[in-house]
Amino acid sequence: MREGNILAIEETIAEKLAKDLREISVTEFFEKNKHLLGFNNPTKALIMAVKEAVDNSLDACEEAGILPNIYVEVAELKKAERGGVYRVIVRDNGPGIPPDYVPQVFGKFLYGSKFHKIKQSRGQQGIGISAVVLYAQATTGSPTIVITRTSPNEPAYRFEIMIDVKRNEPIILSKKELKSWPLDHGTEVRFTLIGDYVENRKQSILSYLEQISVVAPYASIVFKNPRGDIFRFERKTQKMPPPPKEIKPHPHGIDIGYLIRMLANTRTKSLKGFLISEFTRVGEKTAEEILRIARLDPNINPKSLEKEQIEKLYNAMQRVKILAPPTDCLSPIGEELFKIGIKRLYGEKAEFIETVSRRPTVYGGNPFLVEVGIAYGGSLPKNSQAEIYRYANKIPLLYGQSGCLITKVISSIDWRTYGLNQPGGVGIPQDAVIFFAHIASTNVPYVSESKDAIAEIPEIENELRLAFQELGRLLRLHIQRKRKLAKIAEKKKIISEILPAIAEKVSRIVNKPVPDLDPVIARVMNNYLFEDHVKYHKRKKTYEVIVSVTNYTRIRRRFDMYLRVPKEAEIVHVEPEPVEIVNNYIHWNVPRMETNESRTFYVSFKGVEEGVYEEAEIFVEGIEPEYLVGAEAFSEEEYTDMYGAEVSEEEEEEVIEK
Ligand SMILES: Nc1ncnc2c1ncn2[C@@H]1O[C@H](COP(=O)(O)OP(=O)(O)O)[C@@H](O)[C@H]1O
Ligand SMILES: [Mg+2]
Repeated sequence: MREGNILAIEETIAEKLAKDLREISVTEFFEKNKHLLGFNNPTKALIMAVKEAVDNSLDACEEAGILPNIYVEVAELKKAERGGVYRVIVRDNGPGIPPDYVPQVFGKFLYGSKFHKIKQSRGQQGIGISAVVLYAQATTGSPTIVITRTSPNEPAYRFEIMIDVKRNEPIILSKKELKSWPLDHGTEVRFTLIGDYVENRKQSILSYLEQISVVAPYASIVFKNPRGDIFRFERKTQKMPPPPKEIKPHPHGIDIGYLIRMLANTRTKSLKGFLISEFTRVGEKTAEEILRIARLDPNINPKSLEKEQIEKLYNAMQRVKILAPPTDCLSPIGEELFKIGIKRLYGEKAEFIETVSRRPTVYGGNPFLVEVGIAYGGSLPKNSQAEIYRYANKIPLLYGQSGCLITKVISSIDWRTYGLNQPGGVGIPQDAVIFFAHIASTNVPYVSESKDAIAEIPEIENELRLAFQELGRLLRLHIQRKRKLAKIAEKKKIISEILPAIAEKVSRIVNKPVPDLDPVIARVMNNYLFEDHVKYHKRKKTYEVIVSVTNYTRIRRRFDMYLRVPKEAEIVHVEPEPVEIVNNYIHWNVPRMETNESRTFYVSFKGVEEGVYEEAEIFVEGIEPEYLVGAEAFSEEEYTDMYGAEVSEEEEEEVIEK
């Protein structure tokens, strides 16, 4: 169990903030706590306002299964001493907020933040939208305006909200039914606050929206900056990831503060009942064992526990071996959507974009998973340090890069082995490359309360490393293949065009028949050449892949060829008949080919969005790798990827449970 569990830290901060809030004026409160709230300076405050509102919009849309349309506008109303007075508008087409809830959500500090829910959502990361309301009020004295509508059969309501700081209760200055509102359902928030608008750097609203657009390619985002420039991030796919599910806490995933709070809030009558009904993976037997070790009476009222008893209970909970929590509550971006998202930003610039999603696993009772991506080559700047885009629960982490586990893992991998320039084999590579990493968890471990950097958890570190290494291998394949193919193309041109022309001329001069050049060509080329041709049919929404193989060697033997397609691909047609299709691999047995003989293979598949699949990944078993051009040796990695690895521990546990 990791010390200083984040949920408990949040609890104490939340409580402290709420207490401070009761005792002092709002301005004083912000002076005192702005670092905790993320409003350290006017620049960051403006970013935070947009971020809190946009995060909520995306969360709400995803939860309701609505493809998000989000409009963001930042306007400068007048200059201030530092920065200026800004108006921020964020509008979404989400499910709307029932009017009865609006005062609580916006007008009660720390109301909505999901401290009590164990769920992967953006929400837990910020301090909640009411902090922005409070900040706006503290800096400009202006109320926040909220317009929301839950269905076309309902009117839209417009609220003017402030917070009664002394009582931490909403003040509704006005509430009106609107005669008309352009959206059938959705929410619009308007803040007037002191801020400072910047662009052209990673810590800016524009960059934040760009980074959001990478992990939410299903969202359409329009942004109007203070100069009136409009930036459009158009929707690139209709597919949305499944919404995250709520789960109960795992005994190993909470700390003692959280346990205290659970005990105080429970409706169960007995301690045993409490353990069984309020935790995941705790059944009759586990509960009994915990109580036996803690030497506590199973029938005792959970609310009546003394401090020492709670400590005993907590320690016993940590000592008992308990099944890892289920991991299907997470909502990854997915390899496909992540790739579409990266293409949305870098499709034009980079020549190679690839993503890898790891399967969910667990650290200290908390489910998590890791996803990584890479954009490489093309016109990306070649000689500067690689950029790193970091995300936690689909939120860009704008600050704290150097202290983040993601950066640490990238820096500790020897990227030279994957074809990148990295002086000394450590540190951030200096090459035309951009890294992306996403950590999804019901409980993302951060270095500090500002929630900018991921903490060093060995399990997460391991998953990140494996994910980046897999990405590295894909990158290496691409780089090697590109190099080889370029060389071969040159050679092939010389051999297949120039050589016959010379042969013909010479034969004519010496008046002899043109010799058979095939053996000569084979000797000079000396390879098996795999050429691929990938085409997307917009109308049929189908990919067609043609692979042609030519034997430019004198080796004539049968071999096995594997074509890897994306995991989501639904195969429509394969020709010739393959031996097997296992997961996303098509496996052919290729009969022996004569020297200079060619063969063609054809595959079509559906279910993959346009632009995701660009080059065929071909693997060969039975021909020495040095003869392969345009294909790679079928290695152990592909073998496990195709046929699956040994059963992991969690799976075994799950099987036992059933
Ligand atoms: N744009 C929105 N559309 C629908 N519901 C919203 C919106 N903004 C906020 N909410 C609701 O208000 C709640 C509180 O929001 P917030 O204070 O930001 O906390 P959190 O995001 O941590 O839940 C959200 O959980 C959500 O139920
Ligand atoms: Mg929120």
